[in-house]
Amino acid sequence: MSKKEIVVSGIRSTGYLHLGNYFGAIQNYVRMQEEHNCYFFVADYHSLTTHPKPEDLKQNVYRVVAENVASGLDPEKVALYAQSDIPEIPELYLMLNMLAYMGELEKVPTFKEKVRMQPDNVNAGLLTYPVLMAADILIHKAVKVPVGKDQEQHLEMARNFAHRFNTRYGTDLFPEPQVYRFNNDTVKIMSLDGNGKMSKSENVNATIYLSDDDDTIRKKIMKAKTDQGPTEPNMEMPDYIRNLFVLMDVSSAPETTATFKAAYNNCNIRYGDMKKQLAEDMAAFVRPIRERAAELQKDEAAIKKILKEGAEKARASSATTIAEARKLIGINYY
Ligand code: TRP
Repeated sequence: MSKKEIVVSGIRSTGYLHLGNYFGAIQNYVRMQEEHNCYFFVADYHSLTTHPKPEDLKQNVYRVVAENVASGLDPEKVALYAQSDIPEIPELYLMLNMLAYMGELEKVPTFKEKVRMQPDNVNAGLLTYPVLMAADILIHKAVKVPVGKDQEQHLEMARNFAHRFNTRYGTDLFPEPQVYRFNNDTVKIMSLDGNGKMSKSENVNATIYLSDDDDTIRKKIMKAKTDQGPTEPNMEMPDYIRNLFVLMDVSSAPETTATFKAAYNNCNIRYGDMKKQLAEDMAAFVRPIRERAAELQKDEAAIKKILKEGAEKARASSATTIAEARKLIGINYY
């Protein structure tokens, strides 16, 4: 491919995509696909740490692909693939495991959190999760990785492993990948119950999924947290009210949002009316994505084609890297 900067990001295959993912991640992927050389993959190997049912795995992967493409990711422009289709990733993972120390892996906050949350399943895959993630990234020699705050520590470890490999083998094979920060205009979506980010919320009734039908969206929005309304003009908005305006900003006509903002500032806003309007506009926003995703998910041939072509692109890049790594390590016997 061309000289564009190389970008890698992994998409979890567990859970349904929601508005937090859409505005926090997917929309940014869609913007990046124009100017970067993007490798986006479904992190199915990573998901094995929690032992998903075999019969669910394929549907999860298909759904993630369908939802991302329906949201605007273009498989012609990016390599969209399943991690498990690239055998060079586990090969590099094995090599990097020899450079990763138990001590540093045990210290990782996400690992410690998992140990606390699921003490019955503290497997080695969980411990070496950051090593696999580093392999995902380094296999394409990526320089930019669009991830959220919760992944920054993992990325720092990827830089450490890259640096360690380079130093040990006297090479500059791996660039040190940096977090890619989107413009500050990335929209942050809160849970509708006002409890933190939508992506962190466990409350399905306060989370709008891209697969929710119109009525479900209406119900969820009508139940969103509000209060008695502002008591003085131009009062600062509580988080949960600001969030409703954020949602309106992305789905309603600008005049509509402006009208409700003025009403807020004049203390005569009726949240019931605002939510009704927002519910309709949000339903209309999600509808085409949901319908396109559902249609695509049923079209197994189309999904397979996307995954196959994505894997071909990703393998071409991976094969070069792994050949170089093997040679540097001394694995070149023939
Ligand atoms: N760990 C990431 C998450 O939980 C997913 C992921 C796996 C990833 N491999 C990656 C992200 C490589 C960026 C690059 O969201």
